[in-house]
Amino acid sequence: MSTFQAPKGTYDLTPPRSATFLAVREAISAPLRDSGYGYIETPGFENVELFARGVGESTDIVTKEMYTLTTKGGSQLALRPEGTASVLRAALEANLHKAGNLPVKLWYSGSYYRYERPQSGRYRHFSQVGAEAIGSEDPALDAELIILADQAYRSLGLRQFRILLNSLGDKECRPVYREALQTFLRDLDLDEETRRRIEINPLRVLDDKRADVQKQLTDAPKLRDYLCDACKAYHEEVRALITAAGVVFEDDEKLVRGLDYYTRTTFEFVHDGLGSQSAVGGGGRYDGLSEMIGGPELPSVGWALGVDRTVLALEAEGVELDLPATTSVYAVPLGEEARRVLFGVVTELRRAGIAADFAFGGRGLKGAMKSANRSGARYTLVAGERDLAEGVVQLKDMESGEQTAVPLAEAAAELAKRLG
Ligand code: HAM
Repeated sequence: MSTFQAPKGTYDLTPPRSATFLAVREAISAPLRDSGYGYIETPGFENVELFARGVGESTDIVTKEMYTLTTKGGSQLALRPEGTASVLRAALEANLHKAGNLPVKLWYSGSYYRYERPQSGRYRHFSQVGAEAIGSEDPALDAELIILADQAYRSLGLRQFRILLNSLGDKECRPVYREALQTFLRDLDLDEETRRRIEINPLRVLDDKRADVQKQLTDAPKLRDYLCDACKAYHEEVRALITAAGVVFEDDEKLVRGLDYYTRTTFEFVHDGLGSQSAVGGGGRYDGLSEMIGGPELPSVGWALGVDRTVLALEAEGVELDLPATTSVYAVPLGEEARRVLFGVVTELRRAGIAADFAFGGRGLKGAMKSANRSGARYTLVAGERDLAEGVVQLKDMESGEQTAVPLAEAAAELAKRLG
Protein backbone atom coordinates (compact mmCIF):
# COMPACT_ATOMS: atom_id res chain seq x y z
CA MET A 1 0.00 0.00 0.00
CA SER A 2 1.30 3.40 -0.92
CA THR A 3 1.73 5.95 1.87
CA PHE A 4 0.00 8.48 -0.35
CA GLN A 5 -3.33 6.77 -0.49
CA ALA A 6 -6.49 7.75 1.38
CA PRO A 7 -8.10 4.87 3.35
CA LYS A 8 -10.46 2.56 1.46
CA GLY A 9 -13.86 4.10 0.80
CA THR A 10 -12.61 7.65 1.32
CA TYR A 11 -11.27 10.35 -0.94
CA ASP A 12 -9.79 13.81 -0.61
CA LEU A 13 -11.26 17.02 -1.82
CA THR A 14 -8.66 19.03 -3.63
CA PRO A 15 -8.81 22.17 -5.78
CA PRO A 16 -10.41 22.83 -8.17
CA ARG A 17 -13.17 20.22 -7.51
CA SER A 18 -13.29 21.13 -3.82
CA ALA A 19 -14.73 24.53 -4.77
CA THR A 20 -17.83 22.75 -6.09
CA PHE A 21 -18.29 21.02 -2.72
CA LEU A 22 -18.15 24.36 -0.91
CA ALA A 23 -20.65 25.83 -3.36
CA VAL A 24 -23.01 22.87 -2.86
CA ARG A 25 -22.88 23.23 0.93
CA GLU A 26 -23.56 26.92 0.53
CA ALA A 27 -26.49 26.36 -1.86
CA ILE A 28 -28.12 23.76 0.39
CA SER A 29 -27.76 25.82 3.55
CA ALA A 30 -28.76 29.21 2.09
CA PRO A 31 -32.52 28.50 1.97
CA LEU A 32 -32.34 27.14 5.54
CA ARG A 33 -30.54 30.21 6.86
CA ASP A 34 -33.18 32.36 5.17
CA SER A 35 -35.96 30.38 6.85
CA GLY A 36 -35.06 30.70 10.51
CA TYR A 37 -32.72 27.71 10.90
CA GLY A 38 -29.76 28.38 13.23
CA TYR A 39 -26.39 26.72 12.79
CA ILE A 40 -25.44 23.84 15.09
CA GLU A 41 -22.21 21.86 15.33
CA THR A 42 -21.80 18.69 17.36
CA PRO A 43 -18.79 16.39 17.93
CA GLY A 44 -17.71 13.89 15.29
CA PHE A 45 -18.27 11.09 17.81
CA GLU A 46 -20.86 10.30 20.46
CA ASN A 47 -21.50 7.57 23.00
CA VAL A 48 -22.42 4.40 21.10
CA GLU A 49 -25.58 4.21 23.17
CA LEU A 50 -27.04 7.31 21.51
CA PHE A 51 -27.04 5.73 18.06
CA ALA A 52 -28.00 2.27 19.31
CA ARG A 53 -31.09 3.73 20.95
CA GLY A 54 -31.74 6.47 18.41
CA VAL A 55 -30.97 5.06 14.98
CA GLY A 56 -32.03 1.60 16.11
CA GLU A 57 -30.57 -1.79 17.02
CA SER A 58 -32.26 -3.42 14.05
CA THR A 59 -30.69 -1.20 11.39
CA ASP A 60 -27.67 -2.01 9.24
CA ILE A 61 -26.26 1.36 10.24
CA VAL A 62 -25.98 0.34 13.89
CA THR A 63 -25.33 -3.42 13.58
CA LYS A 64 -22.89 -3.44 10.67
CA GLU A 65 -21.74 0.01 9.71
CA MET A 66 -20.73 1.89 12.81
CA TYR A 67 -17.11 2.76 13.53
CA THR A 68 -16.93 2.08 17.24
CA LEU A 69 -14.00 2.47 19.59
CA THR A 70 -13.18 2.12 23.24
CA THR A 71 -11.23 5.01 24.69
CA LYS A 72 -8.30 4.56 27.08
CA GLY A 73 -10.75 5.60 29.79
CA GLY A 74 -13.12 2.79 28.83
CA SER A 75 -15.86 4.84 27.13
CA GLN A 76 -17.63 3.26 24.18
CA LEU A 77 -17.77 5.81 21.39
CA ALA A 78 -18.85 5.74 17.76
CA LEU A 79 -17.98 8.01 14.87
CA ARG A 80 -21.32 9.55 13.97
CA PRO A 81 -23.08 7.66 11.16
CA GLU A 82 -25.74 10.37 10.85
CA GLY A 83 -26.67 13.71 12.35
CA THR A 84 -30.22 13.59 13.70
CA ALA A 85 -29.59 11.76 17.00
CA SER A 86 -26.61 14.03 17.79
CA VAL A 87 -28.48 17.23 17.00
CA LEU A 88 -31.43 16.20 19.15
CA ARG A 89 -29.08 15.17 21.98
CA ALA A 90 -27.33 18.55 21.78
CA ALA A 91 -30.63 20.49 21.71
CA LEU A 92 -31.85 18.62 24.79
CA GLU A 93 -28.54 19.13 26.58
CA ALA A 94 -28.66 22.89 25.90
CA ASN A 95 -32.37 23.01 26.82
CA LEU A 96 -33.13 24.73 23.52
CA HIS A 97 -36.61 23.22 23.67
CA LYS A 98 -37.33 25.01 26.95
CA ALA A 99 -36.71 28.52 25.65
CA GLY A 100 -40.38 28.84 24.73
CA ASN A 101 -39.64 29.01 21.06
CA LEU A 102 -40.79 25.82 19.37
CA PRO A 103 -40.00 24.49 16.90
CA VAL A 104 -36.26 24.74 17.45
CA LYS A 105 -34.96 24.93 13.87
CA LEU A 106 -31.34 23.92 13.32
CA TRP A 107 -29.07 23.24 10.36
CA TYR A 108 -25.70 21.53 10.21
CA SER A 109 -22.95 20.49 7.85
CA GLY A 110 -20.30 17.90 8.42
CA SER A 111 -18.61 14.54 7.99
CA TYR A 112 -20.33 11.21 8.66
CA TYR A 113 -18.92 7.70 8.77
CA ARG A 114 -20.39 4.35 7.79
CA TYR A 115 -18.48 1.13 7.28
CA GLU A 116 -20.26 0.29 4.03
CA ARG A 117 -19.08 -1.61 0.96
CA PRO A 118 -17.58 1.22 -1.09
CA GLN A 119 -18.81 1.84 -4.61
CA SER A 120 -19.52 4.83 -6.77
CA GLY A 121 -21.55 7.26 -4.64
CA ARG A 122 -21.15 5.16 -1.48
CA TYR A 123 -18.26 6.02 0.78
CA ARG A 124 -17.09 5.32 4.30
CA HIS A 125 -16.59 8.99 4.94
CA PHE A 126 -19.12 11.33 3.39
CA SER A 127 -20.58 14.70 3.91
CA GLN A 128 -24.11 15.92 4.61
CA VAL A 129 -25.91 19.19 5.08
CA GLY A 130 -28.94 18.65 7.27
CA ALA A 131 -31.85 20.39 8.93
CA GLU A 132 -33.91 19.47 11.98
CA ALA A 133 -37.07 21.18 13.23
CA ILE A 134 -37.61 20.04 16.80
CA GLY A 135 -40.67 20.11 19.03
CA SER A 136 -43.59 20.78 16.76
CA GLU A 137 -46.21 18.66 15.07
CA ASP A 138 -47.38 20.70 12.12
CA PRO A 139 -47.72 19.47 8.55
CA ALA A 140 -46.53 22.88 7.35
CA LEU A 141 -43.17 22.14 8.95
CA ASP A 142 -42.80 18.87 7.02
CA ALA A 143 -43.84 20.76 3.88
CA GLU A 144 -41.39 23.59 4.57
CA LEU A 145 -38.47 21.19 4.72
CA ILE A 146 -39.39 19.38 1.52
CA ILE A 147 -39.90 22.69 -0.29
CA LEU A 148 -36.55 24.06 0.95
CA ALA A 149 -34.66 20.99 -0.24
CA ASP A 150 -36.36 21.25 -3.61
CA GLN A 151 -35.42 24.94 -3.73
CA ALA A 152 -31.79 24.13 -2.87
CA TYR A 153 -31.47 21.53 -5.63
CA ARG A 154 -33.12 23.82 -8.16
CA SER A 155 -30.85 26.72 -7.23
CA LEU A 156 -27.92 24.46 -8.13
CA GLY A 157 -29.46 23.82 -11.54
CA LEU A 158 -30.43 20.20 -10.87
CA ARG A 159 -33.51 19.01 -12.75
CA GLN A 160 -33.38 15.20 -12.96
CA PHE A 161 -34.27 14.51 -9.36
CA ARG A 162 -37.52 13.12 -8.02
CA ILE A 163 -39.14 13.37 -4.63
CA LEU A 164 -40.58 10.15 -3.19
CA LEU A 165 -43.09 10.59 -0.38
CA ASN A 166 -44.68 8.21 2.08
CA SER A 167 -46.23 8.03 5.54
CA LEU A 168 -45.08 5.36 7.98
CA GLY A 169 -47.93 5.88 10.43
CA ASP A 170 -47.54 6.51 14.14
CA LYS A 171 -47.35 4.54 17.38
CA GLU A 172 -51.08 3.79 17.14
CA CYS A 173 -51.42 2.40 13.65
CA ARG A 174 -47.96 1.15 12.73
CA PRO A 175 -47.85 -1.72 15.23
CA VAL A 176 -51.13 -3.07 13.84
CA TYR A 177 -49.73 -2.95 10.34
CA ARG A 178 -46.44 -4.45 11.45
CA GLU A 179 -48.20 -7.48 12.80
CA ALA A 180 -50.34 -7.94 9.69
CA LEU A 181 -47.21 -7.70 7.56
CA GLN A 182 -45.33 -10.20 9.72
CA THR A 183 -48.18 -12.71 9.43
CA PHE A 184 -48.06 -12.33 5.65
CA LEU A 185 -44.27 -12.54 5.38
CA ARG A 186 -43.89 -15.62 7.59
CA ASP A 187 -45.73 -17.67 4.94
CA LEU A 188 -43.32 -16.74 2.14
CA ASP A 189 -40.35 -18.66 0.81
CA LEU A 190 -37.44 -16.61 2.17
CA ASP A 191 -33.85 -17.20 3.29
CA GLU A 192 -32.76 -17.34 6.95
CA GLU A 193 -31.51 -13.77 7.19
CA THR A 194 -34.69 -12.36 5.71
CA ARG A 195 -36.72 -14.50 8.09
CA ARG A 196 -34.82 -12.95 10.98
CA ARG A 197 -35.52 -9.54 9.53
CA ILE A 198 -39.27 -10.28 9.53
CA GLU A 199 -39.12 -10.53 13.31
CA ILE A 200 -36.89 -7.49 13.90
CA ASN A 201 -37.85 -5.01 11.20
CA PRO A 202 -40.46 -6.41 8.80
CA LEU A 203 -40.94 -3.13 6.91
CA ARG A 204 -37.36 -3.41 5.68
CA VAL A 205 -38.26 -6.64 3.87
CA LEU A 206 -40.47 -4.58 1.56
CA ASP A 207 -37.29 -2.77 0.55
CA ASP A 208 -35.55 -5.98 -0.61
CA LYS A 209 -34.11 -5.41 -4.07
CA ARG A 210 -34.14 -9.06 -5.23
CA ALA A 211 -36.65 -9.89 -7.97
CA ASP A 212 -37.68 -13.27 -6.47
CA VAL A 213 -38.49 -11.54 -3.17
CA GLN A 214 -40.31 -8.66 -4.84
CA LYS A 215 -42.42 -11.13 -6.82
CA GLN A 216 -43.74 -12.64 -3.58
CA LEU A 217 -44.55 -9.22 -2.16
CA THR A 218 -47.20 -8.24 -4.70
CA ASP A 219 -50.06 -9.04 -2.35
CA ALA A 220 -48.41 -7.83 0.84
CA PRO A 221 -50.69 -5.75 3.08
CA LYS A 222 -50.27 -2.06 2.39
CA LEU A 223 -49.48 0.43 5.12
CA ARG A 224 -51.78 2.89 3.37
CA ASP A 225 -54.74 0.68 4.28
CA TYR A 226 -53.75 0.66 7.94
CA LEU A 227 -53.05 4.36 8.55
CA CYS A 228 -55.23 5.78 11.34
CA ASP A 229 -57.43 8.77 10.57
CA ALA A 230 -55.07 11.22 12.27
CA CYS A 231 -52.09 9.99 10.20
CA LYS A 232 -54.14 10.04 7.02
CA ALA A 233 -55.30 13.61 7.60
CA TYR A 234 -51.78 14.71 8.50
CA HIS A 235 -50.36 13.16 5.36
CA GLU A 236 -53.03 14.66 3.14
CA GLU A 237 -52.24 18.09 4.53
CA VAL A 238 -48.49 17.67 3.83
CA ARG A 239 -49.30 16.58 0.29
CA ALA A 240 -51.67 19.52 -0.24
CA LEU A 241 -49.13 22.06 1.01
CA ILE A 242 -46.27 20.89 -1.18
CA THR A 243 -48.60 20.54 -4.15
CA ALA A 244 -49.76 24.13 -3.63
CA ALA A 245 -46.10 25.19 -3.62
CA GLY A 246 -45.72 23.66 -7.07
CA VAL A 247 -43.33 20.96 -5.86
CA VAL A 248 -43.81 17.74 -7.78
CA PHE A 249 -43.56 14.46 -5.86
CA GLU A 250 -44.42 10.79 -6.23
CA ASP A 251 -46.27 8.74 -3.66
CA ASP A 252 -44.09 5.73 -2.89
CA GLU A 253 -45.56 3.35 -0.37
CA LYS A 254 -42.45 1.15 -0.54
CA LEU A 255 -40.30 3.93 0.89
CA VAL A 256 -39.30 2.77 4.39
CA ARG A 257 -35.83 4.34 4.95
CA GLY A 258 -32.92 2.72 6.74
CA LEU A 259 -33.31 4.28 10.17
CA ASP A 260 -35.76 3.20 12.88
CA TYR A 261 -36.84 6.55 14.24
CA TYR A 262 -39.25 7.59 11.52
CA THR A 263 -42.98 8.14 12.03
CA ARG A 264 -45.53 9.54 9.61
CA THR A 265 -43.90 11.63 6.85
CA THR A 266 -40.88 10.09 5.14
CA PHE A 267 -39.31 11.22 1.89
CA GLU A 268 -36.31 10.69 -0.29
CA PHE A 269 -34.75 12.71 -3.09
CA VAL A 270 -33.48 10.43 -5.82
CA HIS A 271 -31.47 11.34 -8.88
CA ASP A 272 -31.85 9.32 -12.03
CA GLY A 273 -28.29 9.84 -13.25
CA LEU A 274 -26.58 8.09 -10.34
CA GLY A 275 -27.07 4.35 -10.81
CA SER A 276 -27.73 2.24 -7.74
CA GLN A 277 -26.79 4.87 -5.13
CA SER A 278 -29.50 7.18 -6.35
CA ALA A 279 -30.63 8.75 -3.06
CA VAL A 280 -29.18 12.23 -2.90
CA GLY A 281 -31.08 13.07 0.27
CA GLY A 282 -33.70 11.84 2.66
CA GLY A 283 -35.57 12.54 5.82
CA GLY A 284 -38.84 12.54 7.63
CA ARG A 285 -40.68 12.96 10.87
CA TYR A 286 -39.38 11.34 14.05
CA ASP A 287 -41.95 12.02 16.73
CA GLY A 288 -40.66 9.35 19.11
CA LEU A 289 -36.89 9.84 18.91
CA SER A 290 -36.60 12.24 21.83
CA GLU A 291 -38.28 9.74 24.16
CA MET A 292 -36.19 6.90 22.69
CA ILE A 293 -33.02 8.68 23.86
CA GLY A 294 -34.51 9.56 27.25
CA GLY A 295 -35.94 13.02 26.54
CA PRO A 296 -39.45 14.48 26.72
CA GLU A 297 -42.03 14.14 23.97
CA LEU A 298 -40.80 16.35 21.13
CA PRO A 299 -42.32 15.63 17.73
CA SER A 300 -39.78 16.64 15.10
CA VAL A 301 -38.94 16.46 11.42
CA GLY A 302 -35.78 16.85 9.37
CA TRP A 303 -33.65 15.84 6.44
CA ALA A 304 -30.06 15.40 5.36
CA LEU A 305 -28.79 15.87 1.83
CA GLY A 306 -25.61 14.09 0.77
CA VAL A 307 -23.04 16.54 -0.52
CA ASP A 308 -20.94 13.90 -2.32
CA ARG A 309 -23.92 12.54 -4.23
CA THR A 310 -25.22 16.03 -5.00
CA VAL A 311 -21.87 16.81 -6.65
CA LEU A 312 -22.11 13.52 -8.59
CA ALA A 313 -25.64 14.49 -9.65
CA LEU A 314 -24.38 17.83 -10.94
CA GLU A 315 -21.69 16.00 -12.92
CA ALA A 316 -24.24 13.50 -14.23
CA GLU A 317 -26.45 16.32 -15.49
CA GLY A 318 -23.46 18.21 -16.87
CA VAL A 319 -24.24 21.25 -14.72
CA GLU A 320 -21.25 23.58 -14.36
CA LEU A 321 -21.66 25.87 -11.37
CA ASP A 322 -20.86 29.47 -12.03
CA LEU A 323 -17.98 29.77 -9.58
CA PRO A 324 -16.43 33.25 -9.60
CA ALA A 325 -12.61 33.34 -9.64
CA THR A 326 -11.26 33.65 -6.14
CA THR A 327 -8.40 35.98 -7.15
CA SER A 328 -9.06 39.42 -8.64
CA VAL A 329 -5.51 40.71 -8.92
CA TYR A 330 -2.29 38.78 -9.55
CA ALA A 331 1.06 40.49 -9.00
CA VAL A 332 4.14 39.56 -11.02
CA PRO A 333 7.40 41.12 -9.84
CA LEU A 334 10.48 41.10 -12.05
CA GLY A 335 13.52 41.37 -9.80
CA GLU A 336 14.31 41.80 -6.12
CA GLU A 337 13.25 45.41 -5.72
CA ALA A 338 9.94 44.80 -7.53
CA ARG A 339 9.26 41.82 -5.30
CA ARG A 340 9.40 43.96 -2.18
CA VAL A 341 7.31 46.74 -3.70
CA LEU A 342 4.59 44.55 -5.26
CA PHE A 343 4.35 42.39 -2.15
CA GLY A 344 3.48 45.63 -0.34
CA VAL A 345 0.83 46.46 -2.93
CA VAL A 346 -0.69 42.97 -2.59
CA THR A 347 -0.89 43.38 1.19
CA GLU A 348 -2.54 46.78 0.74
CA LEU A 349 -5.08 45.32 -1.73
CA ARG A 350 -5.93 42.47 0.61
CA ARG A 351 -6.47 44.86 3.50
CA ALA A 352 -8.82 46.82 1.25
CA GLY A 353 -10.84 43.65 0.68
CA ILE A 354 -9.55 42.89 -2.82
CA ALA A 355 -8.59 39.26 -3.43
CA ALA A 356 -4.98 39.31 -4.54
CA ASP A 357 -2.23 36.79 -5.11
CA PHE A 358 1.46 36.98 -5.86
CA ALA A 359 4.00 35.14 -8.00
CA PHE A 360 6.14 33.60 -5.27
CA GLY A 361 9.48 31.94 -5.76
CA GLY A 362 11.13 34.49 -8.07
CA ARG A 363 9.97 32.87 -11.31
CA GLY A 364 10.44 34.32 -14.74
CA LEU A 365 7.81 36.39 -16.55
CA LYS A 366 6.47 33.52 -18.68
CA GLY A 367 5.85 31.08 -15.84
CA ALA A 368 4.43 33.80 -13.62
CA MET A 369 1.99 34.94 -16.31
CA LYS A 370 0.83 31.35 -16.69
CA SER A 371 0.00 31.28 -12.99
CA ALA A 372 -1.74 34.64 -13.33
CA ASN A 373 -3.90 33.16 -16.08
CA ARG A 374 -4.65 30.05 -14.09
CA SER A 375 -5.70 32.11 -11.07
CA GLY A 376 -8.57 33.57 -13.04
CA ALA A 377 -7.54 37.08 -11.94
CA ARG A 378 -9.12 39.91 -13.88
CA TYR A 379 -5.99 42.09 -13.57
CA THR A 380 -2.28 41.53 -13.29
CA LEU A 381 0.22 43.97 -11.92
CA VAL A 382 3.67 43.63 -13.49
CA ALA A 383 6.68 45.67 -12.45
CA GLY A 384 10.39 45.53 -13.33
CA GLU A 385 13.43 47.73 -12.57
CA ARG A 386 12.57 50.23 -15.29
CA ASP A 387 8.95 50.63 -14.14
CA LEU A 388 10.06 51.28 -10.61
CA ALA A 389 12.59 53.84 -11.77
CA GLU A 390 9.69 55.64 -13.42
CA GLY A 391 7.47 55.19 -10.35
CA VAL A 392 4.88 53.09 -12.19
CA VAL A 393 3.49 49.53 -12.42
CA GLN A 394 1.99 47.92 -15.50
CA LEU A 395 -1.68 47.15 -15.03
CA LYS A 396 -2.96 44.55 -17.46
CA ASP A 397 -6.63 43.81 -18.05
CA MET A 398 -6.64 40.03 -18.62
CA GLU A 399 -9.94 40.14 -20.48
CA SER A 400 -9.13 42.84 -23.05
CA GLY A 401 -5.36 42.36 -22.98
CA GLU A 402 -5.00 46.12 -22.61
CA GLN A 403 -2.01 47.30 -20.57
CA THR A 404 -1.53 50.70 -18.95
CA ALA A 405 1.17 52.22 -16.79
CA VAL A 406 -0.25 53.40 -13.47
CA PRO A 407 1.64 55.45 -10.86
CA LEU A 408 2.71 53.06 -8.13
CA ALA A 409 1.09 55.14 -5.38
CA GLU A 410 -2.25 54.98 -7.17
CA ALA A 411 -2.23 51.30 -8.16
CA ALA A 412 -4.39 50.07 -5.26
CA ALA A 413 -6.95 52.87 -5.62
CA GLU A 414 -7.12 52.38 -9.40
CA LEU A 415 -7.78 48.64 -8.97
CA ALA A 416 -10.40 49.28 -6.31
CA LYS A 417 -12.14 51.66 -8.72
CA ARG A 418 -12.00 49.26 -11.67
CA LEU A 419 -13.19 46.29 -9.64
CA GLY A 420 -16.11 48.30 -8.34
P1 HAM B 1 -29.80 8.92 5.25
O1 HAM B 1 -30.80 8.63 4.23
O2 HAM B 1 -29.16 7.78 5.92
O3 HAM B 1 -30.53 9.85 6.32
O4 HAM B 1 -28.67 9.84 4.64
C1 HAM B 1 -28.96 11.03 3.97
C2 HAM B 1 -28.12 11.16 2.73
O5 HAM B 1 -26.74 11.05 3.04
C3 HAM B 1 -28.34 10.09 1.69
O6 HAM B 1 -29.48 10.36 0.89
C4 HAM B 1 -27.06 10.14 0.89
O7 HAM B 1 -27.10 11.20 -0.06
C5 HAM B 1 -26.05 10.49 1.94
N1 HAM B 1 -25.32 9.27 2.33
C6 HAM B 1 -25.69 8.34 3.24
N2 HAM B 1 -24.78 7.34 3.30
C7 HAM B 1 -23.82 7.65 2.41
C8 HAM B 1 -22.59 7.02 2.00
N3 HAM B 1 -22.16 5.87 2.55
N4 HAM B 1 -21.85 7.62 1.02
C9 HAM B 1 -22.26 8.78 0.47
N5 HAM B 1 -23.38 9.42 0.82
C10 HAM B 1 -24.16 8.87 1.77
C11 HAM B 1 -29.95 10.35 7.44
O8 HAM B 1 -28.77 10.35 7.64
C12 HAM B 1 -30.93 11.02 8.37
N6 HAM B 1 -30.18 11.52 9.55
C13 HAM B 1 -31.68 12.13 7.65
C14 HAM B 1 -32.64 12.83 8.56
C15 HAM B 1 -32.48 14.03 9.16
N7 HAM B 1 -33.83 12.37 8.93
C16 HAM B 1 -34.40 13.24 9.75
N8 HAM B 1 -33.58 14.25 9.91
